Amino acid sequence: MKGVVLAGGTGSRLFPLTKITNKHLLPIFNKPMIYYPIQTLVDAGIHDILIVTGGRNSGDFLRLLGNGKEFGLKHLNYTYQEGEGGIADALNLAEHFADGQKICVVLGDNIIEGSIRRAADAFRAQERGARILLKEVTDAERFGVAEMQGERIIGIEEKPRHPKSNYAVTGIYMYDGTVFEKIRQLVPSRRGELEITDVNNAYIGEGTLTYSFLEGWWTDAGTFESLRRATNLVAETEELRDAKLIEQAAADGE
Ligand code: DAU
Repeated sequence: MKGVVLAGGTGSRLFPLTKITNKHLLPIFNKPMIYYPIQTLVDAGIHDILIVTGGRNSGDFLRLLGNGKEFGLKHLNYTYQEGEGGIADALNLAEHFADGQKICVVLGDNIIEGSIRRAADAFRAQERGARILLKEVTDAERFGVAEMQGERIIGIEEKPRHPKSNYAVTGIYMYDGTVFEKIRQLVPSRRGELEITDVNNAYIGEGTLTYSFLEGWWTDAGTFESLRRATNLVAETEELRDAKLIEQAAADGE
């Protein structure tokens, strides 16, 4: 399975932080934001990765990431989204790269504590369709929200005023090769974007959308509040990990 990180868009919600740089290059604790989704893919055993950039600072991605050596990669692929046509519009640029294979897509501002390895393996074994990752949240109206009937997802609503569940659709999506046909059928939403939620609903329509629950914490980082939360969560997690390592080293030394 190949991987795609979507890092286009203008990040207008973070203005003026994004006035002279791309949102995905902003720091989250001790690393630039884009490092986290790349690491998520690498940890899931995905080594063939495309970065979709955009805006005025796209050259900085190449300067920062180079050939991906820091992540143990042999090379990285890049492409450029003109304008801000939406998440599905950005994904559409990956058709040539995907070359009919399954892909795992991660939004450039989505940061997770744990691993998606198990979900990725389940999707590798899935014959066709798509798999999304759900997370129970208390502010579902900020996200795509799954409507459940028993164990089944029967629909997804984008930022509903009255969410039908507390299950947010996280920005990690796994698709088979038919995703690009589905994107071609889309029409822009009221906010003028090709919505990833409409892609997921197309899979629900043909009965091939599955899901896993995401383990550990999850946050986006596209608003001031979530940017701060992301930094705090990463810092706390690293502190805990360091404390455990010190404890372990002390125990080993005894
Ligand atoms: O974080 C998860 C949520 O992400 C999902 O629950 C929603 O269903 C999904 O629509 C999305 O919502 P947001 O409103 O938070 O998406 P946003 O416009 O902030 O874009 C998220 C990332 O997607 C952004 O960091 C880069 C990429 N993107 C976005 C747009 C609009 C692009 O690459 N190109 C774009 O044109």
